[in-house]
Amino acid sequence: MTEPLELFDPAHYASVRLPAQKAAPLPNWCYTSPAFYAREVERIFMKVWNYIGHASQISDPGDFFTHDIAGMPIVVIRGDDGEIRAFHNSCRHRGSMVATGEGSCKTLMCPYHNWTYGRDGKLVATPLIDEDENLRHADLGLLPVRLERWAGFLFVNFDDNAMDLMQWLGDLPGNCASYGPETMVLGRRKVYRDVKANWKLHFENFNDSLHIPFVHGGTLARQGVSGRKRAIFEEFNGQCIDHFTVHKGSRSLLEGDTGFPPIATLKGRYREGTYYPCILPTTMMGWTIDCLFIFELHPTGPESMNVVSALFFPQEITQRDDFEELAKRYYRRQDIILPEDNVIVAMQQRGLHAPVSAASRFTHMETLCHAFDNWLLDQVL
Ligand code: FES
Ligand SMILES: [Fe+2]
Repeated sequence: MTEPLELFDPAHYASVRLPAQKAAPLPNWCYTSPAFYAREVERIFMKVWNYIGHASQISDPGDFFTHDIAGMPIVVIRGDDGEIRAFHNSCRHRGSMVATGEGSCKTLMCPYHNWTYGRDGKLVATPLIDEDENLRHADLGLLPVRLERWAGFLFVNFDDNAMDLMQWLGDLPGNCASYGPETMVLGRRKVYRDVKANWKLHFENFNDSLHIPFVHGGTLARQGVSGRKRAIFEEFNGQCIDHFTVHKGSRSLLEGDTGFPPIATLKGRYREGTYYPCILPTTMMGWTIDCLFIFELHPTGPESMNVVSALFFPQEITQRDDFEELAKRYYRRQDIILPEDNVIVAMQQRGLHAPVSAASRFTHMETLCHAFDNWLLDQVL
């Protein structure tokens, strides 16, 4: 659908702003328009705490990974002092990326003219070119990006004036405390590249309990969920949208599979179901009785993204002799569920190109999507 001339005039979004029972989803152009996406990059991805991964991915000095946040490249590396630092992945000479992928390195060497940076980002060598008063190594280190962590979870922020990470997360660390977030280590991380859909569709999908029997008829829908509540938007202090589902067993195994014992420290309701906090804007978590899964959305444009599925287990579980064998059951579930969602959001993306403008309605099972759409409008308008 063609976008209006005054794209950010609040009048276009009045029906999204209504109370959930009366509200419409975002207009189609919010998922297709390059101009709308550019505004999201400027007002959201440049300003928020972006989750980028876990400390256990880079456990030794020199371990690094690269990352792309809505087109902005960073490199994250553990120094000889054990500190994890993030830098703009852009050489101080003439701007090439200095690293790709992930791995372990003694130094970060730019492939263009081999300017070489230490594990702390300092420029240490400029082959064929001597240092002089016009070219001082000390002035030309990689530019740092603000990085903060909660337990082992790493976040970066491009805005030096942004609130601290813990303020951003608000109630989240407290709500998750009995899972022992600091004991969690990465089991497996899998990347689905170039899913042809706008990133918001996946965030909404995760918070839409209506689709489960239809999109996951052979899997999720068959899992016994007793006392399943409608997705309730809980009052939350912090930049999250969360809900809780009551059910038996682990929400990270397929029906009939058995796995690891429940986390012994779980308290209260957390023993009886799964807690789904979504850290705005792109990180969806599922804390269930025996593990944690995270889906990360990495927009690559208005109509495409990479999607990551990661599974975390308490460290002591990963020491068991049967860990790899049993963990496969968890990975198998993830490998079925997430592709089902990838397919449906790509179909939705194509459908959103229909040249019509009549507003739809959210149902009572999509109140969290409504909350997300309104958060989004709060940022971009
Ligand atoms: S651009 Fe990196 S060394 Fe020239
Ligand atoms: Fe789904």
